[in-house]
Amino acid sequence: MSIRAQDPFVDSFATMREDVNAFLPLIRDAELPILYGPKLAPMSGHWRSFFQEKMLEPPENLILEIGSHYGEVILKMAADEPKTAFIGMDITLKRVVKLAQKAKEFGLKNLISILCNAKFLDVLFASHELDAVLVFFPDPWAKKKRYHKNRLLKPEFLALLAQKLKPDACFWFKTDWEPYNADVMEALTAARWRQVEQPMTGLCSKVYTSRFERLFKAQGLTTYASVWMPPRVLS
Ligand SMILES: C[S@@+](CC[C@H](N)C(=O)[O-])C[C@H]1O[C@@H](n2cnc3c(N)ncnc32)[C@H](O)[C@@H]1O
Repeated sequence: MSIRAQDPFVDSFATMREDVNAFLPLIRDAELPILYGPKLAPMSGHWRSFFQEKMLEPPENLILEIGSHYGEVILKMAADEPKTAFIGMDITLKRVVKLAQKAKEFGLKNLISILCNAKFLDVLFASHELDAVLVFFPDPWAKKKRYHKNRLLKPEFLALLAQKLKPDACFWFKTDWEPYNADVMEALTAARWRQVEQPMTGLCSKVYTSRFERLFKAQGLTTYASVWMPPRVLS
């Protein structure tokens, strides 16, 4: 079940019976590290203090993964980097719950699973709040023309992303779809994002293989990956 709300701070499931979907009672489980609907409303500009309470120290960095799926990448990152805070965002109820269950099972205090559509990025984060954003194999990845209009990574969204990232932050993008890759690279270049040819340090210099990446590679398909820093802001 995916969320359809036009307002990210509304609980789209509020009026739904719990027996409609096995994951509905779980998304409301206060023991699971999940935020959605009204609980997301006060977060913009306050993510660091939120994590500080959970981690008992201020996080060194704040990383967002859009389309975190069942958490294959973000769980590993959070375990590898215990001083960094991670937010996994997805639009699917089951995936958000599953990620939160695993974060709890592994005792990861530095990871929260959020049910939200990335198109609401503007109201979720303050300017320059994020140290990195990962988008690995975003939907829609079907190779059909009609999917173009639903793509997340268009110039307007990339401009918003640039605003939310710190000046020295990174945007890590992967896809299996060459035309999508070409369009995103063109849009980033036109907006003066700076491509980092071979990141030598930090999270983006490490190897993290996502579930879809593994599936595509197992089929012998080419995948594309690139890391970018936001355009310099002229003062
Ligand atoms: C093709 S899967 C890729 C999953 C994972 N990143 C990987 O590489 O294995 C895309 C994921 O993005 C999620 N998603 C699609 N559109 C989204 C949006 N607008 N905001 C947040 N998540 C989204 C889907 O629910 C799905 O879990």
